[in-house]
Amino acid sequence: MNQMRLDPRRERLLKRTFVDFQQMSDFIQHPLILERAEGLYYWDSEGKRYFDAIGGIFVATLGHGHPRVLEAMRKQMERMTFVPPLHGIAGVTLDFVERVGNVTPGNLKYVKPFSGGSESTEAAMKFIRQYFKQTGHPGKYKFISRYLGYHGGTAGAMAASGTGSRKTKFEPHMAGFLKVFPPNHYRDTFASWEECNRFAARAVEDVIIHEDPETVAGVIVEPIGNTGGIITPTAEYFRMLREICTQHHVMLIFDEVITGFGKTGAMFAAQTFGVTPDIICCGKGLSNGAIPMGAMIAREDLAEAFWGLPEEDLQFAHGHTFAGNPLACAVGIAVIDEIVEHELDRRAARLGEYLAVRLEGLKRYGVVREVRGKGTLRGVELVRDTQSMAPFPELGMALKRIALNNGLIMRIDPTWFAVSPALVATESEIDEMCSLIEKSLAEALEEVGRREITASLAR
Ligand SMILES: Cc1ncc(COP(=O)(O)O)c(C=O)c1O
Repeated sequence: MNQMRLDPRRERLLKRTFVDFQQMSDFIQHPLILERAEGLYYWDSEGKRYFDAIGGIFVATLGHGHPRVLEAMRKQMERMTFVPPLHGIAGVTLDFVERVGNVTPGNLKYVKPFSGGSESTEAAMKFIRQYFKQTGHPGKYKFISRYLGYHGGTAGAMAASGTGSRKTKFEPHMAGFLKVFPPNHYRDTFASWEECNRFAARAVEDVIIHEDPETVAGVIVEPIGNTGGIITPTAEYFRMLREICTQHHVMLIFDEVITGFGKTGAMFAAQTFGVTPDIICCGKGLSNGAIPMGAMIAREDLAEAFWGLPEEDLQFAHGHTFAGNPLACAVGIAVIDEIVEHELDRRAARLGEYLAVRLEGLKRYGVVREVRGKGTLRGVELVRDTQSMAPFPELGMALKRIALNNGLIMRIDPTWFAVSPALVATESEIDEMCSLIEKSLAEALEEVGRREITASLAR
């Protein structure tokens, strides 16, 4: 297997840093050191080209180095790069607030820009806790989220995440975070996927009732759950969550850090599923990866609880030095304008249909349980065989290494893989990506099969 050569200096430097969620002793065996990106491709330090099937990591929805984004940055850079958030706000930040409000569902018009997804989810939960304290429900502080969900790396966002060992390493987490299972956990228990989703939604209501609704502040979910393998509930599941939350005066937060900005076939997954939450959190695609950026978008009327007389001390007690940074806001405007003007969300819906058909074609290998997702955000669950439906992590691990070797970057976890190509990809680029996936899967199957034969000979 061809492998990047590491010079001693780079090897030494790699030992001085960490790559996210990677065992560094393993990473250093197959390091990926990238130097350049353009459109749908990355190039590593040896000049090898990679097809970026995942937009960096669900980020570069317009393709890397998009000219409109770079131009917006350049112009803003020459004008002003920083405004102290404690004393003022940039004019371009207000323009950004307006642009976001133009594309959100319902009354979601209150916008607080941040520097990433974790800041957005963390802020949303603080916002809701403070909201209830200021509106006569001081006992409402608990959040319900889902196992397998991921809401970020900061302490509160991690407490809301349900990702096993990623979170247990840091326990105990702060109090008031409860978990339910996402719909896919009961998949084989029910006669239909719809019934499985109804059960999962009712479980949320059961928890609210048994915890006492006067203690529950919010429900936070990813509309499409990445970390569980692109878990894609039914629209009815979200309608039920909406009704349950409204009935018990609990805020529904959609963590759209991955699903936001066009990927699911609409600007937000909230629109794809036809449900308006009380808060949307976003990040990733909002800046196309040009600059760290996120935003919390709340119902405008919720923000009214933070007004009042100057002496009342009702202000949202939260802030970050770089939040609402003018450079980031200029980038956010460019990204939104590009999606709106070129109807890239609709394009994602069309391209997604094409992509899904290509991925469905992988079923002929007999190791694909399901192709899931919406628009260009798609996941494939890998199983040992389609009778037992047993997970096949060895295959995923081999696929991860082989795909990289074949010049393909995607998310592999290892019982599923996900792709999220740029919304601007052409059908022939989707073909190129799917051919690389198929070649890598075939090679991984051969390798795993060979290993199984060798193991059985040794027994
Ligand atoms: C659904 C979701 N929420 C929140 C986050 C945290 O965002 P960030 O890494 O920008 O802090 C992520 C990151 O992967 C995510 O996937």
